[in-house]
Amino acid sequence: AIAVLITFVASFALGSVPWGLIISRVFYHTDIRAHGSGNIGTTNAMRTMGKKAGVAVFLLDFGKGVLSGLIGIACAHFLLPDNAAVSRDALLAFAMAGCVWGHIFSPWLNFHGGKGIAVAIGALYVTFGFVPASVELFVIFAILVLATRYVSLGSVAAAAACPFIAAFLYWGDWLTILLYLAAASTVVWAHRGNIKRLLDGTERRIGDPKEE
Ligand code: G3P
Repeated sequence: AIAVLITFVASFALGSVPWGLIISRVFYHTDIRAHGSGNIGTTNAMRTMGKKAGVAVFLLDFGKGVLSGLIGIACAHFLLPDNAAVSRDALLAFAMAGCVWGHIFSPWLNFHGGKGIAVAIGALYVTFGFVPASVELFVIFAILVLATRYVSLGSVAAAAACPFIAAFLYWGDWLTILLYLAAASTVVWAHRGNIKRLLDGTERRIGDPKEE
């Protein structure tokens, strides 16, 4: 229980650091939430502040996910007893979900925040590793984004596919599968505005002119 608590709280705290907002404030003297889609993530950073800002926000958010995964691994190693009710995979899923929820419901932003893609990628690459499962998610994302230029479509599809991959990898470990399902559902929910715009045909595409 202590391993779960430490992993979850530390990952949530890490996830809650709103890098997109910090970069926009410190380097561009503006609030990214007032521009483009209003999101604090990589896509909107690139759209409104340019490539350099986009890459910086991605790496920092991705880094939050990686660190959360590493905290989960450390807690599993040092704090999880051999006969624990919670598996190592579940503990890593708590790290991923904690970071994603901290990012989407950041206490620093009145429990608002980003959409969780970059942090989830960071956490997933630490927990899944470069196995076919994580490559599959990336391929789903990349094909859709390249084919349609809608980043959000790739994001939503990859998030929706994630619990199926978790079910395949962790069949029988219901807590782990449930955590992936819950985190992925939150990511899809965070994209509700994008989904509406995709259906309306008004969603922004990458390569559109830079927005103010
Ligand atoms: O991960 C965020 C992306 O899927 C959508 O970003 O700014 O277009 O809402 P945005």
